Amino acid sequence: MSDRIHTLSGYFHEYQKSVTEPEQFWARIADSFHWKKRWDKVLEWDFEGPDVKWFVNGKVNITENILERHLFIMGDRPAIIWEPNDPNEEGRTLTYRQLYHEVCKFSNALKAKGVGKGDKVIIYMPMVPEAAIAMLACARIGAVHSVVFAGFSSSALADRINDCEAKAVLTSDGNFRGSKKIAVKDLVDEALEKTKTVETVIVYQRTEQDINMVEGRDIWWHDAIQDQPDTNEAEVMDSEDMLFILYTSGSTGKPKGVVHTTGGYMVYSKYTFENVFQYSPGDVYWCTADIGWITGHSYIVYGPLLAGATSIMFEGVPTYPDAGRFWAIVDKYQVNQFYTAPTAIRALEAHGTKPIEPYKLDSLKVLGSVGEPINEEAWHWYHTHIGKNRCPIVDTWWQTETGGIMVSPIAGITPNKPAYATMPLPGVQLAIVDAEGKELKGKAVEGNLCIKFPWPGMLRTTYGDHDRCKQTYFSAYPGMYFTGDGVKRDHDGYYRILGRVDDVINVSGHRMGTAEIENAINEHPKVIESAVVGYPHEVKGQGIYAYVICDLKNRTEENLIGEIKDTITKSIGPIAKPDKIQIVPGLPKTRSGKIMRRILRKVAEGSFDNMGDTSTLLDPAVVEEIIEGRVE
Ligand code: WT7
Repeated sequence: MSDRIHTLSGYFHEYQKSVTEPEQFWARIADSFHWKKRWDKVLEWDFEGPDVKWFVNGKVNITENILERHLFIMGDRPAIIWEPNDPNEEGRTLTYRQLYHEVCKFSNALKAKGVGKGDKVIIYMPMVPEAAIAMLACARIGAVHSVVFAGFSSSALADRINDCEAKAVLTSDGNFRGSKKIAVKDLVDEALEKTKTVETVIVYQRTEQDINMVEGRDIWWHDAIQDQPDTNEAEVMDSEDMLFILYTSGSTGKPKGVVHTTGGYMVYSKYTFENVFQYSPGDVYWCTADIGWITGHSYIVYGPLLAGATSIMFEGVPTYPDAGRFWAIVDKYQVNQFYTAPTAIRALEAHGTKPIEPYKLDSLKVLGSVGEPINEEAWHWYHTHIGKNRCPIVDTWWQTETGGIMVSPIAGITPNKPAYATMPLPGVQLAIVDAEGKELKGKAVEGNLCIKFPWPGMLRTTYGDHDRCKQTYFSAYPGMYFTGDGVKRDHDGYYRILGRVDDVINVSGHRMGTAEIENAINEHPKVIESAVVGYPHEVKGQGIYAYVICDLKNRTEENLIGEIKDTITKSIGPIAKPDKIQIVPGLPKTRSGKIMRRILRKVAEGSFDNMGDTSTLLDPAVVEEIIEGRVE
């Protein structure tokens, strides 16, 4: 507990120390973990490579810091409380002791299937405790997990399996999601037709629907753990051994596998969890994310469990069976810290305050927000109607690549300012740079957000392609990590994140590359060319607007639009489906053939004045035609 910040001056003091003596600072935090062998050196780094090592030569197993560590003093405390999709189905609670035994059993099961240190394991599962057990079992035996959000298509799944050459896939027969039942195992079977490396598929039985089991390859979860001992010797891992790969979208090409390693991620996820949320022993904490995203990794599984917290896992959706579901769960389990995304807040706001009325919500102490900028209106709604003007809001800015929260208020300590992520956490050295890469110092400045100094939770590479990591994050501004976000520092020195400055869009907190969606659209045989942009969307934050040039022979526009949507659903998943598709005769291009996205963004937004300079366009008339055909 000694690492907890308690006052604002304490925060400033810690921040100062973390900048002047970063190695001493992080060594002190890391000392509260159980290391099998202490590190020789805290940090080695070079942002040119990039080459970053934390806790060099330290030996550790992250699951011992979750399981053994809490077993003896609080083995009976709930680690995971699971709330099913259907409120009439009974939930489950796993204590730290039960979690320990379940993880050990499944670790043994994986080993029995020949999965070991360094092997890659894909987890494509619903939000059930077994998904967390699967992650921890991988970590325990030194296998590298890569969780794929179960809403991704079979083709997206196949791409990820192939990229990391996964040896095993952990999945379920089906998933429940609201009123829908999704045939997950069928998608896995489809994906495996396009892959060669998978030897084992372990299937958790959730929906009890009929599925196909391939002999010699597929095995039920319950059969795999049967007869497995419930203890297991944790593998000795190096601080810099890979813990997991998580695929995320960028501005170019296919999603890349962000690599996180063991020691630094462990220290950073726990430290940020305890401080940002001001978690106290006995509190019940709930993060509504899916484990398919980094938020689920760091703030449902690793951070909270390292801290000995009680973490709720919810299988369902915010509006099923009605728009009061979140609040019913908060009251049911007396949730103290609640962490969700602005898109969920806005979606619930649209249902008004009636669905909230039956609930007290008086257990809540802290509210969190993550995934996209939270607009002031949503902030106030959250603060007033959920927090009853009593709970601080932590607007947490971070990324898949950062591993943990970077800029955020410390709950109840940092004074809030709506829509501001406020100040950097200790250890986080921000820089705002202009287009030329010059750092903008002082207050009241706006520019691109960079980070000047390593932090323990940062990515180490992009899997299988280190140069891509260098190009994407360390080349735009040499010597600094570039986040891809625009930011403003106001006259108080508070930070407000303004959103992406690259070709990445953020739809309901899900990050997508416009190029990735265009590639999917272009898979349709009738499509000649396409351009995708984001536009402001009331609930989703950003919506997807696609301009498509097609061959309309034998097709109506309407049919074609439907087919294009299906193509995208197949290639990526329903989350990438455009909100608007406009069939266009041409795209605004410069003479050198570059699409002027600035213009397309303006049209999508519905702002036609001030189109900027269009004189370099090859065919300025096309802009008029696009405006005329704009989809409302
Ligand atoms: C991008 C990262 C971090 C976990 C979820 C998303 C945007 C994230 C905030 C926030 C404004 C935010 C940024 C960032 N973002 N949190 N509090 N305020 N923007 O992780 O998929 O890696 O996306 O999400 O644009 O770069 P991700």
